[in-house]
Amino acid sequence: MRIVTSVAAMQRLAKRWQHQQVRVGFVPTMGYLHAGHLSLVREARRIVGPRGQVVVSIYVNPTQFGPKEDLSRYPRDFARDQKLCRAEGVDVIFAPKDDEMYPSDHDGAFSTYVVEQTLSQGMEGASRPTHFRGVTTVVAKLFNLVLPEVAVFGAKDVQQAAVIQRMVRDLNIPVKVVVAATHREPDGLAMSSRNKYLSPTEREQATVLSQALQLAKKSVKTKAVSSARLKTQLEQFIASRPAARLDYIELFDPHTLQPAAKAASGTHLALAVFFGKTRLIDNAAL
Ligand code: PAJ
Repeated sequence: MRIVTSVAAMQRLAKRWQHQQVRVGFVPTMGYLHAGHLSLVREARRIVGPRGQVVVSIYVNPTQFGPKEDLSRYPRDFARDQKLCRAEGVDVIFAPKDDEMYPSDHDGAFSTYVVEQTLSQGMEGASRPTHFRGVTTVVAKLFNLVLPEVAVFGAKDVQQAAVIQRMVRDLNIPVKVVVAATHREPDGLAMSSRNKYLSPTEREQATVLSQALQLAKKSVKTKAVSSARLKTQLEQFIASRPAARLDYIELFDPHTLQPAAKAASGTHLALAVFFGKTRLIDNAAL
């Protein structure tokens, strides 16, 4: 397994693979890897095969964090990430440095962003106004550096996956985007690097997200219900956990991400819940 930290070296390697017609599968991450990330790595390997190259990027991207968010305390453990990647058969870890990704030298500071203007408006975009601009910008940069044939993203971040698919379509980026299922702890909590922030009490109560998804599935199983009523029911359910503070619940069409007035089987539900300073998200098709 190779570790590449220079942007120029990554692009040179990617161009060589392209020249040699080697298939390249890519999993962008911010590190502190867990089984959810590793399931994306396996999916990338399955697609490109044993002779393909699987690249995992580990980069805590500053431009997707708001000024009051957890950039400086975002968990990092490169040694552990390396071990996990090696065990999973990753070929290359690409871990670029901030000053190469976002130059601020005498050539002039970084000043170009990629902005998706529709799908990034609601939900995560409403709660975190500059978040998706940071995500689309860094993912476009990473695609240009790794030149993958396919990139695998997690369904856990459903809006992120939709925004990236839209960017790839709109800008004719020659990358196939694959979205892989959400990996969960045995009690249903979606795996996330941020779960490690939770106190034991918060961790126990954090199951409220996946349980709310289950409750909503039951509620729409036999007939469509008004989204407003379903939201009220879920709000009450979430309020039954004293450590939980709801950020949003949204019922929407999975393709357009437009809010749905009625919730039925197939409608998508996403929610964000704070536990102290830690904000967790989850989603599922009902
Ligand atoms: P990060 O939160 O590290 O997630 C990297 C990838 O892992 C994303 O595609 C995310 O959806 C996926 N993922 C996270 N938890 C998952 C789970 N429990 N099951 C399945 N997949 C899961 O998302 C980002 O980083 C960044 O925004 C990034 C795309 C790397 C751009 O900086």
